[in-house]
Amino acid sequence: MPSVVKINVLTVPAEMREELERRFSGRAGMVEASDGFEWFELLRPVDGTDRYLVYTRWRSEEDFDRWQKSQAFQAGHAQAAGEREGDAAQGHGHGQAAGQGQGHGHGRGPAASGSELWSFEVVQNSGPKSS
Ligand code: HEM
Repeated sequence: MPSVVKINVLTVPAEMREELERRFSGRAGMVEASDGFEWFELLRPVDGTDRYLVYTRWRSEEDFDRWQKSQAFQAGHAQAAGEREGDAAQGHGHGQAAGQGQGHGHGRGPAASGSELWSFEVVQNSGPKSS
């Protein structure tokens, strides 16, 4: 069974980049411990676009689905919602709701003004030879 890659594409206005990266830092724990988790990278655009890629790789689709429904995902993202609304109990504000951001301010509103989920299967891969 090939691994699956799930990329969350976040549209982030230039003035919110720092804030977005700050919110992600230290949150790797919300995904690292999950069963079937293989890789995470937050990718900052350097080619003039305003879209960050949240690259994640999983052993299977089922592992990704389980993580998305998990307490770890909900809690980690509810925290982001809390910073946004000043109401950590909200627990959502995900998916489509992400499009309604104000796009500026400090600690208020989502850093991302939109999001889109891309899904892939790993067909081939390689890495450096281990010595
Ligand atoms: C592919 C899997 C993922 C999906 C589908 C997803 C979903 C989303 C969505 C839709 C948003 C924008 C709405 C919002 O601002 O709350 C968001 C933001 C965020 N996500 Fe995720 N996420 C994923 C992976 C991750 C991972 C692995 C982490 C941490 C390591 C993470 C941490 C965050 C943080 C900190 C924000 C707040 C950004 C902001 O202020 O706009 N996400 N996520």
